Amino acid sequence: MQGFCSPRLAAIEPYVPGEQPRIADLVKLNTNENPYPPSPLAVAAVREAAASGLERYPDPDSLALREAVARRHGLGVDQVFAGNGSDEVLAHAFFAFFRQPEPLLCPDVTYSFYRVYAQRYEIDCELQPVDATLHIDVDALAARAAIGCGGIVLANPNAPTGIGLPLPRIEQLLQACARRVVLVDEAYVDFGGDSALQLIGKYPNLLVVQTLSKSRALAGLRVGFACGQAHLVEALTRAKDSFNSYPLGRPAIAGAVAALQDEDWFAHNCRTVIDTREGLALALEDLGFEVLPSQANFLFARHPQQDAGELAVALRGRAVLVRHFRAPRIAQYLRISIGTRAQCEALVQALAAILPT
Ligand SMILES: Cc1ncc(COP(=O)(O)O)c(C=O)c1O
Repeated sequence: MQGFCSPRLAAIEPYVPGEQPRIADLVKLNTNENPYPPSPLAVAAVREAAASGLERYPDPDSLALREAVARRHGLGVDQVFAGNGSDEVLAHAFFAFFRQPEPLLCPDVTYSFYRVYAQRYEIDCELQPVDATLHIDVDALAARAAIGCGGIVLANPNAPTGIGLPLPRIEQLLQACARRVVLVDEAYVDFGGDSALQLIGKYPNLLVVQTLSKSRALAGLRVGFACGQAHLVEALTRAKDSFNSYPLGRPAIAGAVAALQDEDWFAHNCRTVIDTREGLALALEDLGFEVLPSQANFLFARHPQQDAGELAVALRGRAVLVRHFRAPRIAQYLRISIGTRAQCEALVQALAAILPT
């Protein structure tokens, strides 16, 4: 690599996504995808959009999609920004808001892509330790923010723990960090979290990021969005237009609009995932696991007598994939995405066979 690449690139430690194996019949519980297909209306809209017009560039402003998000959440279209997956939206937000004289604040246990974006955009990022139970210590974070910071980024519910914060705690952070942006990444909020979207009118420094990858089962389409007051959306649009003017293709825009309009499919799907999660949590506890309270489509669990890395390898040997992070403080946990009831049952059976009796 040396010689051709810039020293900055060489210094970056890229994010490592969960494995996407090409083997059939795996029980795939490692990347927090939805185990159910997306709305049939979304699939039909993608097909239709792909059938004609692909020779033309798509709408650079993704207006139809932004209107659909605005309608769904009671916002103005100038309060919605759309991007190619929420990862891209997050990257633009880091670029637009967080390179400040003071450090960005971020929990030490959270979505590991935040640190990668901080490196990429040369943002000084100060990690705030979560407490012994892996909950974000909001009082400590707010006290640190009040001294002066370049912004706050957190996921709510958090990843990979699944633990959610109630809205008054988000407001505490918004008030403590009033001069900088507080980014709340709500990738998993539809599985039982409290959305901060309703606070947008009240806080000019609030940016909420969501994705259609999880609750709308459209990980393969790559659609995410951010909502905030118009001045924040304008800044994100500047960031987009200094990177890629057409981040969303016509099929992605059409599919996302249709998915956002199919409220019944969405609600039923989320309910099923939540019910399955509660059942799986009990089954894991019966096997001796400690399971963190989750408001997401995954569980974060550890077994007091078993090494998590070894468990993940043993599960893989039985064609069950879960995610294990070799990271400080969480190396003894497994992150288990909620699959179908049958997939979760297969996981429990595999664990029962692996664990000593
Ligand atoms: C907390 C969090 N934010 C954002 C994302 C990115 O989602 P996407 O780029 O698929 O919208 C993920 C993906 O797993 C995530 O866990």
